[in-house]
Amino acid sequence: MRIWRTVVGKLWMTILLMVAFVLLILTVLLLKFFEDYHINQIKQDLSNTAQKISNIMEEHPSGQVGKEIALGVLDKNEKVMIVYNKKDIFYPTGAESYKGISYQSILKDKQLSQVFRGKKKVMKELTPPHSSSRNEYNHVIVTAVPLYAAGKEPGAVFVYQSLEALQETTQQTTKIILLAAGIAIVLTTGFAFFLSTRIGGPLHKMREAAFEVAKGRFDKKVPILTHDEIGELATAFNTMGRQLKFNMDALKQEKEQLRSILSSMADGVLTFNRDGTILIMNPPAETFLQHWYHVQGDQAKDAALPDGLSALLRKVVETEKEQTDEIEINGRFYVMIASPLYNQSHIRGVVTVIRDMTEERKLDKLRDDFIANVSHELRTPVAMLQGYSEAIIDDIAASEEEKKEFAKIIYDETLRIGRLVNELLDLARMEAGHFSFRIEPVPFKSFIERVTHKFNGIAKEKGIELLCEASDRDLVIEMDADRIEQVLTNLIDNALRHTAPNGYVKVKEEEVEDGVYIHVEDNGSGIPKEDLPFVFERFYKADKARTRGKSGTGLGLAIAKNIVEGHNGRIFVKSKTGEGTTFSFFLPKKA
Ligand SMILES: Nc1ncnc2c1ncn2[C@@H]1O[C@H](COP(=O)(O)OP(=O)(O)OP(=O)(O)O)[C@@H](O)[C@H]1O
Ligand SMILES: [Mg+2]
Repeated sequence: MRIWRTVVGKLWMTILLMVAFVLLILTVLLLKFFEDYHINQIKQDLSNTAQKISNIMEEHPSGQVGKEIALGVLDKNEKVMIVYNKKDIFYPTGAESYKGISYQSILKDKQLSQVFRGKKKVMKELTPPHSSSRNEYNHVIVTAVPLYAAGKEPGAVFVYQSLEALQETTQQTTKIILLAAGIAIVLTTGFAFFLSTRIGGPLHKMREAAFEVAKGRFDKKVPILTHDEIGELATAFNTMGRQLKFNMDALKQEKEQLRSILSSMADGVLTFNRDGTILIMNPPAETFLQHWYHVQGDQAKDAALPDGLSALLRKVVETEKEQTDEIEINGRFYVMIASPLYNQSHIRGVVTVIRDMTEERKLDKLRDDFIANVSHELRTPVAMLQGYSEAIIDDIAASEEEKKEFAKIIYDETLRIGRLVNELLDLARMEAGHFSFRIEPVPFKSFIERVTHKFNGIAKEKGIELLCEASDRDLVIEMDADRIEQVLTNLIDNALRHTAPNGYVKVKEEEVEDGVYIHVEDNGSGIPKEDLPFVFERFYKADKARTRGKSGTGLGLAIAKNIVEGHNGRIFVKSKTGEGTTFSFFLPKKA
C-alpha cells in the first residue's frame, strides 16, 4: 500500500505540511522584521553620524582637523561627502562616486537637494544607476544634513551606506530557518515511524484479524499492546469476536437442532419463498418430489412442483391463511398443509407439511370393503333363511319331504353363517395378536397323509387324482396340528374345487435344512396374473361373479396366511391361467 494512503502516512504528511507552512510564514515575517529593523538601524546611525560630522565641521571650519575627527566618527561601511558652498567637495572616505552615486546625481535629486535650501535633514534610498531597482540590496541610503560654515553659503554633509551588508544577515537568517525546517522534517519523520509502530502496527493487526473474522474464524484474537484508545479498540474487537462466536455457535446449534428435527420427521417439510422457490426440504419431502418427477417423466421439466402444490402455495399467499389439500400421485395419497411464513408484517414464504396418507387411505378402503363384503356374504344366506322359513310358515311346502328339504337348506345356511362368523372372529383374533397356538411336536409324514386322505372321497367323486408325496424320513415338526390342518385342508379344498375332472392334485413334502415346504399343486384353472397379489386378502375371490357353490367366503387363504406366519413360516403362490396353481408354505422345524 502506498505510504500516503495509510493513516500514519496521512498523519505524517499533515504534520509535515503544517510545519512547512508555519516555517514559511515565520520565515517571511522574520525576514521582513529583521530587514526593517536593520534598515531603521542603518538610517538612525547614518543620520546620527551625519549630524555629528556636520557639528564637528561647523566647530572646526579650518577643515583638515574637522575631517580627521569626522573620519573617526564614521562606521566601517559608511561613506561621507562633505560639501562647502556647493562647490568645495571633500571625499574623506575615498572616491568621488560610490556605486555610481556622485555629487551630480545628488544635486539632481529633488529631495536631497532640498538640504541646500534649508531643510534640516533629508534621507533617501537611492538606486544606483546601473543596477536593477528590484534588488534592494544594491540600494544606497543617503542622509543629508546641512552644514553652516560661518559666512558662507550653506553646504551639506552626505553620509551614505550600501545595503549589501544587510543581504548577508538575511541570508544568515534564511539558513538558520532552513536548518530548523530540516530538523523539523527529520523529527516528524521519526515521529511518523514512532506513530506507525504505535498506531499503524496495531491497526494493521486488527485489520488482519477483522478479515479472519469475516472468513468465519471467530477465535482470532488481537494482541493488546497499549492502554490507549487503540488498546481499547483491540479489547472491544476481541469482545466482539467472542460474542460473535458465541452467537454463531448458538445459531449453529439451533440450526443443527432444527435440521435434525426436520430430517428425523416422518412428514415431509418444504419451505418456499413467495415466488415458490424451494428453500428447505427434508428427506421425506425429497422422496415426495422425486416420486412426482418419476411419475411425470419428461413433462416434469415444465413445472418444478405438482400443480396441486403450486395452486395451494398461491392460495396461501393470496389469503394469508393456512390451507389444506390432498393430492394423488400414481396411487399414493398425500395430504398437504400449507401455512404462511411471516416477515414482520407481510408474507415472506410458505411452509408446507406433506404427509403420505396412502396407508390410511388403504385402511379406510379395506374397512369399507370389509363391511361391504361381510354384508354381501351375510345378505344371501339371510335372504335364503327368510325365504325358506317364510315358505314353511306359510305352508307353501306341500309335502313333508319338501318341508324337510327347506329346513335342510335353512340348516346349511345357518352353518354357513356360523362358519363365516367363526372365521371372521378367528381372523380378527389372529390379526390382533390375541390368538395363541398350541405348539407340540408332530410326526409330519403321518399328519400329511391323514389330511390328504380325508379328501379321497371328494376327489374320487369329482374324478380327480389326489396324490400325496411324503418323504420316508420321520420328520417331526413343532406346530399347532389343528391349525396347520386347517391351512392344508383349505389349500386341498381350493385345488379340488378349481380343478376339472381328470385333473390331478398333488401334495408334496420337501424337507430343507431348517424346516419343511409343503406344496399343493394342481393342473386346474389357475389364477389370473393380476389377481395373484391379492389372493391372500380377505374376501378375495377370483370368481368375480361370486357364484355360490364353487367358491367359499374368500377368507380361507387370509386365515392360512395368518396361521403360517404365526408359526414363523411363509406362504406363497405360483400360478398360470389354464395350466394350474401351486400353493406352498414353509414351516420351520422349531416354531
Ligand atoms: N388352486 C386354486 N386354483 C384356482 N384358483 C384358486 C385356487 N386356490 C384359490 N383360488 C382362488 O382364490 C380365492 C380365494 O381362496 P380362499 O381359500 O381364500 O377362499 P374360498 O376358497 O373362496 O373360500 P373359503 O376358503 O373361505 O371357503 C378363491 O375364491 C379362488 O378364486
Ligand atoms: Mg378356500
